[in-house]
Amino acid sequence: MRVWAIANQKGGVGKTTTTLALGRGLAMRGFRVLLVDLDPHASLTRAFGVPAEPQPAGVLDLFDENPAELPRLARATEIENLAFVAAQTPLATLERRSATQPGLGLALSNALARAGAAYDYVLFDCPPTLGLLMVNALAAADHVIIPTQTEPLALHGLKGMCRTSEMIERSRRRALPVSILPTLHDKRTRTGADTLKAMQDAHGDAVWNDAIPNDTRICSVEALTHSAPAAQYPGRGLSAYRRALDWLLLTEARATEQAA
Ligand SMILES: Nc1ncnc2c1ncn2[C@@H]1O[C@H](COP(=O)(O)OP(=O)(O)OP(=O)(O)O)[C@@H](O)[C@H]1O
Ligand SMILES: [Mg+2]
Repeated sequence: MRVWAIANQKGGVGKTTTTLALGRGLAMRGFRVLLVDLDPHASLTRAFGVPAEPQPAGVLDLFDENPAELPRLARATEIENLAFVAAQTPLATLERRSATQPGLGLALSNALARAGAAYDYVLFDCPPTLGLLMVNALAAADHVIIPTQTEPLALHGLKGMCRTSEMIERSRRRALPVSILPTLHDKRTRTGADTLKAMQDAHGDAVWNDAIPNDTRICSVEALTHSAPAAQYPGRGLSAYRRALDWLLLTEARATEQAA
């Protein structure tokens, strides 16, 4: 099982869109995929049509004293091999609980350990805040994927996110590779091109040498959560996400080869 955390401390950079697009892509390639919505705002959960009320079973139940099992919380989707775990609004109150309930930082790692080999890939859609939920996801992850908008202000957020990943890597004493995915890119603007270059200069091979274009068609929940072949949704964004997935899989294969 491979665990990817899709994370950035900055909001609105395409984390949820990336989680859906990569998850859909992996499932279409035949992998058993579980998406886990860690954001109390629950955008991913809503994308699959699950309402806030009545409160669904979901991620919060993994933090109980007698935690639920991941496969029991998983909901099937229209896409074969693709399931997800819903987020609930009270996830936002977990931070407070963590002060009095020790051990919550490893709740997701423990849930994955109990799930064994039920999935080939687990993707965490992180909230845009550095808190208990993001730390849980990073602690459990084999790979952090940081979607980053190609605009100058995003570079600060990216630096912060890389520092956070390094901190987790040091504390858990296990490598935590980072891949940076430029998103919402407008190649017609000078700012977009300059920011992409600045990102590549600062982070080298960790940055994909391509970018997900700003393409409103890929945001269509239709395109990302339904099973029809991607060809039916001809947005440039979806084919860019296919290339991004090729790159991520190649990056992991190379890392595995080097470690062997
Ligand atoms: N490549 C893209 N082209 C055009 N619009 C996009 C693209 N990627 C995402 N969007 C849109 O931008 C908005 C933010 O995207 P998304 O929700 O994926 O970001 P996020 O990082 O998960 O946000 P949050 O921090 O609020 O969770 C959404 O309205 C989404 O539909
Ligand atoms: Mg989101």
